[in-house]
Amino acid sequence: MPVIPEKKWQPKPGLLDILKGRQRAILRIDADRTIGEINPHIYGHFIEHLERCIYGGIWTENGERLREDVLRLVQPLKPPVIRYPGGNFASAYHWEDGVGPRESRPKRFDPAWKVEESNQVGTDEFIEFCRRTGAEPYICVNDATGTPEEAARWVAYCNQDAQGEQGRRRAVNGHPEPYNVRLWGIGNEVWGQWQAGHTDAAGFVQRLRPIVAAMRAVDPAIQIVAVGDTLTDDADPAARRWNETVLREAGDLIDYLSFHLYQPGQAGWPENSDPEALYYTLCAAPHSAEKDIQRLAEFIKQAAPGRSIKVALDEWNVWPAPPEGAASMHDVHYTMRDALYAAGMLNAFQRQSKVLTLANLAQMVNVLPLIVTNERQSYATPIYYPFEMYRRMEPIALDVGVDSPVYQSQALGNIEAMEQVPYIDVSATRSRGGQRVVLGIVNRHPTRRVDLSVRLSGFSDLSPKNGWLLRHADPLAENSFVNPGNVKSKVVDLRQIGKKSRFTLDLPPCSVSVIALE
Ligand code: AHR
Repeated sequence: MPVIPEKKWQPKPGLLDILKGRQRAILRIDADRTIGEINPHIYGHFIEHLERCIYGGIWTENGERLREDVLRLVQPLKPPVIRYPGGNFASAYHWEDGVGPRESRPKRFDPAWKVEESNQVGTDEFIEFCRRTGAEPYICVNDATGTPEEAARWVAYCNQDAQGEQGRRRAVNGHPEPYNVRLWGIGNEVWGQWQAGHTDAAGFVQRLRPIVAAMRAVDPAIQIVAVGDTLTDDADPAARRWNETVLREAGDLIDYLSFHLYQPGQAGWPENSDPEALYYTLCAAPHSAEKDIQRLAEFIKQAAPGRSIKVALDEWNVWPAPPEGAASMHDVHYTMRDALYAAGMLNAFQRQSKVLTLANLAQMVNVLPLIVTNERQSYATPIYYPFEMYRRMEPIALDVGVDSPVYQSQALGNIEAMEQVPYIDVSATRSRGGQRVVLGIVNRHPTRRVDLSVRLSGFSDLSPKNGWLLRHADPLAENSFVNPGNVKSKVVDLRQIGKKSRFTLDLPPCSVSVIALE
């Protein structure tokens, strides 16, 4: 595992910053310029039987109970959807090992990860976690070492009433009411050499068709997510071929085509030794991701015309090189910079909400972590806060105009170079009736405050009410067990601005703001 020695970077305002003072930007919001309805699933999450995400993370080490301290952190996020049980893990998982009396559940050896799995956490426990957090479950089935019958039994176990064979089994296990799981993924990264059951697109479709037929015979209302591949540029022949085959041969059966995106990806690790250049590149990366989403949506439109297949980005995160001494490649220490990245991604998702209707941050606890735990404590990493703040967004996405100062960013791994990256990145949402507008604003400038002049049109009687601000003077600031609140959002009262159709927001450097107008 290549690790990069940590280098510190503390940006200081230069002479130019001091002489020029604040920067200025303009935001124009028109009530009628709507993009469309946002599917709340774009704020989704992902948990996997991987390292300490499940055991010692969301559940106690022995899997007996959900950890209340972790629940207290997860609940304010109101996670709309959670994907489970993997990831790579799903490709060799037999769900029936994880239901029934706990003492009789077999231990199993996972050939992909070469670990023994205790199976104390399975379907019923996952659903309990979803119920306690208000999330909709999204289950990924084993298309590789599993069978269509096994996948169909899983759907029946979750969705049949207590009279059916599998429904009765669920009821005997203490859960008479059907779980009503709507979202089902078939396979994970099947195109990857590392995947159990790795095959080509034709091989995948051959497995997918009978699996989906068997699952839909049990419950015709389920929604199917098929594995797609990331189109990082228009000419990527392998990804194009994969997506084309899946869409052509299985487009009639699927509701979503998924892709995964970890930026900058391992190809970007050996190069990223300059923390300042890395800051600018990672802050720009959501714009590169946004192009990937648009490219896949466009591809679907052309390859499966007339079908309303949506894009699912069902694993995403910023994944810089793990620091020296990291326990694994997933032991990344997230910073304020990464919170700017996460907010930039949520802005991009809102802008692309017409085509992107499902997205899952990978992952929730201890693995590329939103939350970190040890035996007794837990804390939220900086990437947690954009999720907490953005759950206040309204359901309609607006197409806003932003005049912002820009910078040039370099390419790194799977992130494109960009000529004009706006320092100020904005997404705007409004309620259906237009009585409430909520903005998400990122100031990527590491040292300069920005005066953002906001110009509203088409709204009546709106004025700034509340704000939630996440900022830190050090872009590389982290949280820890010793200092869990070092990077943390706070509430700001904006009522003093009063009722105006033009007003100015003062945006601190290196910050994320969520602003509610009512
Ligand atoms: O999120 C960690 C792993 O990364 C997942 O198991 C896999 O799908 C991806 O390659």
